[in-house]
Amino acid sequence: MYLDTEDEKILEGEYGETPRKMMEILVALGKVFGADGLIPISSAQVSGASYKTIGRWGLEWLSSLKGRVVVPSVLNPIGMPRDGWQSMAGITPEFAERQNEVIEAYHRLGVKLECTCTPYYLRNTEYGDHLAWSESSAVCYANSVIGARTNREGGPGALAAAFIGKTPNYGLHIVKNRMPGIAFDVEGWDDGRVIRGDHYGAIGYIAGKLAGTKIPVFKNIRPNRDQLKAMGAAMAATGSVALFHVDRITPESRVREMFRYDPGMETITIGPEEINGLYENIDVEAVAVGCPHLSPDEMARLVALLEGKNVLKPFYVFVARGVINAHPEYAEIIRRSGAILVPDTCMVVSPEMDRFSSIMVDSAKALAYVPNMCGAVARFGTMKECVDEATR
Ligand code: F3S
Repeated sequence: MYLDTEDEKILEGEYGETPRKMMEILVALGKVFGADGLIPISSAQVSGASYKTIGRWGLEWLSSLKGRVVVPSVLNPIGMPRDGWQSMAGITPEFAERQNEVIEAYHRLGVKLECTCTPYYLRNTEYGDHLAWSESSAVCYANSVIGARTNREGGPGALAAAFIGKTPNYGLHIVKNRMPGIAFDVEGWDDGRVIRGDHYGAIGYIAGKLAGTKIPVFKNIRPNRDQLKAMGAAMAATGSVALFHVDRITPESRVREMFRYDPGMETITIGPEEINGLYENIDVEAVAVGCPHLSPDEMARLVALLEGKNVLKPFYVFVARGVINAHPEYAEIIRRSGAILVPDTCMVVSPEMDRFSSIMVDSAKALAYVPNMCGAVARFGTMKECVDEATR
């Protein structure tokens, strides 16, 4: 693996112990994955931010680091909102104290405290940008919907890349590794009564299980950006999908033939029966939307559904702080309904949700994660069904 003179100096410790450790992580990753060298990145997104997931050892490691990141870097959701956590019954003062130490450690390192899995709503990321992002849905969105290039980094790998400003050049940074290897056709699409726009998450949930290690290409569907986000998040959760294409819709597939559907490919059909099978009607104690964090358009849809209603059971809405601040009019209507609008954290990484034994979600990613991460039964519904459940 090629290192330039500057990389070598960092590795020899000329710039201090933390950069040396970080370069060591990048070199180790590069060797494992057969990288030919390091490639400059334009931003990093660092997971391992909730004390619920990193625990004491993670905090100790972070606290041992010195220096600052050299590219714009943001955090994944932490375990609680940065303010107002006291009103959340599931957050203990002990947890909050540890979580604040984690935040302080990242802040000291220069990582921005935009704690979100949707950093693309806050910072411009462009087609062809090389990144080191780590949250799986953000990685899938960056690669597939924006046409940027990132592998699915672990927290330490993303932080190391943020410190050095480079990442090992392998995997999805290389164009020939981004070609589709399996195709999905979706049946019943033409019949709007059977499969609707709300069902893209479900399509992703099923496709993720079937794709294996191959990059999927979908045909005969026309999702918008929010629907692509839901599909990608679900595929990354039920499978290991970090990039997918939609024939002539996603940016790379629009630009180049090699990223389009090819009739010679193995093609799997997903039908209404499998999709409808995910929507079970069970009683729930709480409802949560915003996995991944809501876009401004999704917030607007939620506001239209909630306006003039009162929620009658705990209803959580997870959104990036920057998006809430940009839309105070939406925030007000959501709060007026009695729903709990929460920045910085999410339904999976916050202990707040662990106190419920059953949770309804509109996210197929959450459907996959809530049972293990929150110890609760998960019910899947559309955003409208979630609002109906919370307000009836
Ligand atoms: Fe984001 Fe948490 Fe879902 S990180 S994608 S809201 S599990």
